[in-house]
Amino acid sequence: MTGPVAADIAAGGLSADAPLPRHPRFVSLEGGEGAGKTTVLNALREALQQTGAEVVSTREPGGTPLAEQIRELLLHPGDEKPSAETELLLMFAARAQHVRGTILPALERGAWVISDRFTDSSYAYQGGGRGLDPAFVAELERRVVGLRPGLTLLLDLGVAQGRERTRGRDLVFGQTPDRIERERDDFFEQVRRAFLARARAEPERVRVVDASQPAQAVADDAVAILRLFMARSAAEQAS
Ligand SMILES: Nc1ncnc2c1ncn2[C@@H]1O[C@H](COP(=O)(O)OP(=O)(O)O)[C@@H](O)[C@H]1O
Ligand SMILES: [Mg+2]
Repeated sequence: MTGPVAADIAAGGLSADAPLPRHPRFVSLEGGEGAGKTTVLNALREALQQTGAEVVSTREPGGTPLAEQIRELLLHPGDEKPSAETELLLMFAARAQHVRGTILPALERGAWVISDRFTDSSYAYQGGGRGLDPAFVAELERRVVGLRPGLTLLLDLGVAQGRERTRGRDLVFGQTPDRIERERDDFFEQVRRAFLARARAEPERVRVVDASQPAQAVADDAVAILRLFMARSAAEQAS
């Protein structure tokens, strides 16, 4: 692993007050359950592949074999309920592995990376939903992640509508809701609020998409935002 971000992480993290670097070929998709992240990811991948780019699509928790095993622990843990702190640390354990094993190697060889969820989900679920201190999340982000996406699309959808969509999907695919999907509506309301606060705090990076629209309109909005972002990045590089 080489490059400035990899070197900073290897050295034990970036200094306390340095803003985290954003990588211009790293895109994340965020939003609640059923917002349409997987659907949009496919549209973004196609748009990028049309430009001839190599695209690595990945997801969290997960994205490497070990991180996928941690995902299983998180979402299907058996009888013992993980504490909020356990959940946060397992999320970051998986993310540490994902960044080093999948994301940085892909970025360093010139590929685009699209991740279905990334660190914003920890601020939203373990911060907003579980009530853990966002400063603790930020400290873990700084020490073990060390980078942010250049662009994050927040697919914003009402909680009830998201539930209806996942119910439909689970019926079609014969799936049952995982541990986090079984939370109550007020938990997901907190998650949604925390996501929207992330967008307000970093509006150039986190772009809100109205996910209540029909799937094609959501995908079109997402692709248009990506193209604008690519044009801006290209202009910045040229100047
Ligand atoms: N804009 C949309 N309108 C209606 N249904 C949608 C839309 N986007 C996705 N869906 C459907 O809703 C379900 C959840 O979408 P999915 O992409 O799996 O969401 P997520 O990955 O965010 O949980 C799927 O069955 C999908 O086909
Ligand atoms: Mg999905």
